[in-house]
Amino acid sequence: MHTITGKTVLVTGANRGIGRALLEEALNRGAKRVYAGTRQPFDHPDERVTAVTLDVTDAGQIEQAAKTVGELDVLVNNAGQVTFDDLSDRAVLEKMFAVNFFGVYDTIQAFLPALIRSQGAIINNISVNAFAPFPLVSSYSAAKAAAFNLSQSLRGLLAGKGIGVHAVMTGLVDTDMTKGFDVMAKAAPEHVAKNVYDGLEKGEEEIFPDAMAEPLADSWRSGGGKNLERQYAQMAAQIAAAQSA
Ligand SMILES: NC(=O)c1ccc[n+]([C@@H]2O[C@H](COP(=O)([O-])OP(=O)(O)OC[C@H]3O[C@@H](n4cnc5c(N)ncnc54)[C@H](OP(=O)(O)O)[C@@H]3O)[C@@H](O)[C@H]2O)c1
Repeated sequence: MHTITGKTVLVTGANRGIGRALLEEALNRGAKRVYAGTRQPFDHPDERVTAVTLDVTDAGQIEQAAKTVGELDVLVNNAGQVTFDDLSDRAVLEKMFAVNFFGVYDTIQAFLPALIRSQGAIINNISVNAFAPFPLVSSYSAAKAAAFNLSQSLRGLLAGKGIGVHAVMTGLVDTDMTKGFDVMAKAAPEHVAKNVYDGLEKGEEEIFPDAMAEPLADSWRSGGGKNLERQYAQMAAQIAAAQSA
């Protein structure tokens, strides 16, 4: 179980949208320091905020960011990009995976030593599209599904080191990303940010932070997929114990 009060938090993609709201909400909850991962120079009036140059597709910037930050309690992988596509262009698929999957993977790998030291938490901003792809953003949806699967694996692999891994199954939120997409109501980023940290503090493995996502929560948590994840976690722990005996 993790809280934000008194903790050191890094949010990627912190300059706008949900990331900015996650930054502000971490400050509201009394974070000791919030690192704002941004691609462009970024200023914030609160002295607890430190800007860190961080394009999550740039290995050098990730490495430098991990050195700059040093100690970390909560890593929030929020940075993401979407594009309309119909799976006809492999380059789009690669771009979506570079940001939304490998960006998450590489950032976690770089900050893992710090998170192991702090027995901290990882929050990955995924999407409800991990459960059901929206066909007009197929490559994005596939990358988000892979990032969700990665979150589940890491949860099992890192549980023994005291690290919590939380996947945020975000629905439609009112940000630049969804500008012009007006087919249904959008949640406010501030509402989502509050629910993300509430979910963290309650120890929820999957967090359903908005009105579109929330109806999926009970069926996911009591369903076959989650059950299989739990069974696999037990089996993996048994095998690991047998191997080390
Ligand atoms: N909005 C939704 O309805 C919705 C739904 C489900 C999931 N999500 C997820 O929520 C997260 C935030 O989305 P949002 O709605 O807040 O989008 P947004 O307003 O478009 O903001 C995206 C953020 O990610 C940053 N970013 C993009 N590519 C990056 C890279 N390579 N390295 C580092 N930062 C990068 C952007 O930085 P720049 O300003 O430099 O471009 C920006 O700060 C994303 O992972 C998204 O997939 C959003």
